[in-house]
Amino acid sequence: MDPRQSQGRTVIRAGRVIDPSQSIDRVDDVTIVDGRIESVGPAAERPDRTIDAGGLIVCPGLIDMHVHLREPGGEEQETIETGTRAAAGGGFTAVACMPNTKPPIDNVDTLRAVLDKARSGAHCRVYPVAAMTVGQRGQVPVDMPALKAAGAIAFSDDGIGLDDDRVARAVFDRARPCDALLIQHCEVAALSAGGCVNQGRIAEQLGVAGIDPRAETEMLARDLDLLRGSPVRYHVAHVSTERAVDLVRRGKAEGLPVTAEVTVHHLALTEDAVLRQGANAKMKPPLRTEADVAACRRGLCDGTIDCIATDHAPHTAEAKERGLRDAPFGVVGLETAWPVSWGVLVETGRLDPAGLIDRMSCQPARILGLSDQGTLAAGTVADVTMLDATASWVLSANSLISKSNNSPFIGRHLVGRCVATLVAGVCRYVAEGSEGRFAQPG
Ligand code: NCD
Ligand code: ZN
Repeated sequence: MDPRQSQGRTVIRAGRVIDPSQSIDRVDDVTIVDGRIESVGPAAERPDRTIDAGGLIVCPGLIDMHVHLREPGGEEQETIETGTRAAAGGGFTAVACMPNTKPPIDNVDTLRAVLDKARSGAHCRVYPVAAMTVGQRGQVPVDMPALKAAGAIAFSDDGIGLDDDRVARAVFDRARPCDALLIQHCEVAALSAGGCVNQGRIAEQLGVAGIDPRAETEMLARDLDLLRGSPVRYHVAHVSTERAVDLVRRGKAEGLPVTAEVTVHHLALTEDAVLRQGANAKMKPPLRTEADVAACRRGLCDGTIDCIATDHAPHTAEAKERGLRDAPFGVVGLETAWPVSWGVLVETGRLDPAGLIDRMSCQPARILGLSDQGTLAAGTVADVTMLDATASWVLSANSLISKSNNSPFIGRHLVGRCVATLVAGVCRYVAEGSEGRFAQPG
């Protein structure tokens, strides 16, 4: 049968259905009719096709609100096609892609070009984030109402912090009337310039310049002050320090409209990973200390940090081979996000499976305002991920779908794997060897 078929009635049979949005965690069937969820419950009518989910978790499609698809301009690293194929392979049904492309997504034409490419060739939903400032140069705010009307899901100069206080104020002022979501990459350039790993022990040991953790917290503190003056929807990208978690916690306690994400690698690795993985463990913000990692985990579990993102940032092997000092910042993450998070959070008892699905699906949907996603509620789009929580495997560089393989988890033993990914009821990924789960009743 053709797994891509979407019309008619599909029953995903006898999986462990986990939908935190409806407090569901039980073995049951999920019925999909013409690309939408009809019900979670024993399938009544005879379906056109069935998917055997025995032994698998069936949950709302995972959503990654921070990825770099590199198109236009970085096609040797990733394309919309390869990046979304990697996303579907990792269980993601939707991604928000960052605007630090060449040229940057700072105008309606470039935004439309990305949306057009996604429409014709993407394997999951793609929500472009537009730049906050023209050329991501930190000087002139973009035309937010026009970009938002054309489909920008949020605004960010990700990759660069918005240093100039005056421009930051202007960006916040422009976001407010159009209710735009701002995503800040918090990094004060003067405190990070020249650095390639966290400031401290490892930087000293390697004899390289460090990135001061205050580069993150000073910008975050400044932004929270701006929010106090006049609120806008504000989201902190890749929180990495204990003090940043505290700042977000206090901001939320005050009632500020702040949300935050933490990346999988900042939950799983300390700065020591740089010693083993070299440039494949080099990213912004850098991997931090054990205390920072513990604070990020705690913050995620207690709701201070809302969600997990990958910050999937593909770079060519050639660029990463330039050595720690000269290699670009960034690591891929779409295909390892689920198993690494599962290992760090669920296997250790910090979160239950529903808690992890909440952080990887329901919360990103809420922050991005995708009310039809992050849920298996009747009537919503059938974006569904099926996961094998017991699959045990070792990550090898050549097994990645992504065009790049700059992962700090190469060689790591992982537990858990995506088996199938359905977007609007259409199967966009089936793991090798699992095709037999798809059947047409004879
Ligand atoms: C990102 C990239 O390569 O585009 N790199 C990274 O280290 N995270 C930019 C970013 O998200 O800061
Ligand atoms: Zn960033």
